[in-house]
Order: sequence, then C-alpha cells, then structure tokens
Amino acid sequence: MFSIISPSQIILNAIIFNQVKLTYTMKISKNMQNALNNQIVLESNASNSYLAMASWCEITGYEGGSSFFYAQSDEERSHMIKIVHYLNNLGVTVVIPATKLPASSFKSLESILKIALNSEQTVTSAIHKMVEIAQKDKDYPTYAFLEWFVNEQVEEETKFENLIKKFELIGRDKIAINEIDKILAVSVEPPASNTAA
Ligand code: FEO
Repeated sequence: MFSIISPSQIILNAIIFNQVKLTYTMKISKNMQNALNNQIVLESNASNSYLAMASWCEITGYEGGSSFFYAQSDEERSHMIKIVHYLNNLGVTVVIPATKLPASSFKSLESILKIALNSEQTVTSAIHKMVEIAQKDKDYPTYAFLEWFVNEQVEEETKFENLIKKFELIGRDKIAINEIDKILAVSVEPPASNTAA
C-alpha cells in the first residue's frame, strides 16, 4: 500500500531535516570546521602535485611512475570529496580552494617519491591535529569519520617509504631505475570507492 504524503507533510519533513542539520552544525565547532576546510586544501594540493608528477613521469618515459601518480592524484581527489560530503551533510559551508601551482619539473624518480612522502607526512600531521580537536570537542562523529584517514595515512606513508627503499636495494643506474619503474606500475591501486559520505 502506498501512502500519499501531503505537500504540507513534505514541507514539515524538510524543516525537521534542516533543523537536524542546523543542530549538528552547532555541535561541530568552528575550529573543527576550519580544520576540515583546511584539509580540503591539503588534499586538493596533493592531488594537483601528484598530477604534475604523473605528467612529468609520462613525458620523461617512466610509464610505471606515470600510472602510479595519475592514480595517486585521483585518490587524493577522492579524499577531498569525502570531506566535502561530510561537511555538506552537516550543513556546513565548504570552501573549495583555488588551485595551487605545483612544481612541474623534477630531478629524478627518487626525488619525486621523497617529495611525495614529505607531502604525506604533512597530511598525517594535519589529520592528527584534527583528531586532537575532535577529542577536545568531544565531537565523536568527526572523531569516527577521521579514523579512516588516520589508517589511510599509515598505509600511504608505508607505501612511499617502501618504494624509496628500493633505490638502496636495487640501485640507481638506468637498469635499476627501470626495474623500480616496473614496481611502480604494479603498485597502482584500483580506484577506491571512498568518495561517498
Ligand atoms: Fe589524502 Fe595521501 O593524503
């Protein structure tokens, strides 16, 4: 049996829904909102930076590095969108950042991986600071939301550390770098379905 909802009931439901959002918006502190908006900036910059690295690899002839960093760029964008959805679902206005011009030329494949690790470490620190804010605010929903990011950063840092170690293990001559490029090709992760709220 279908129940017909009257227009006035629809309006009432919309009002209640928006009130729930408004109530929660008041629970998420301004500090936390700013930190999450800032994280959108970091994820967006990381996505752009990895895109520039992918492009440099592609033009330099590192096919594995190119595939790897195009995928990394997409992944960072998905992280950014995850936060956009989270804030939007709480009724918090999201500030979509302007694009920061990333570096476009690099010294070597090894230097790119080191820059990437450094970038991940910066992101990890920012996420840990947000966890501290969530704890201080007793903002348990945001604390739970951030757990995924905490685990993701452990994986990301480990991944880059292991790739950088390959230069010590295999070497830095042309054959070794070609081998490491092949390792990058098989390190490409399938797109994660983590863009949902
Ligand atoms: Fe989304 Fe790898 O930081």
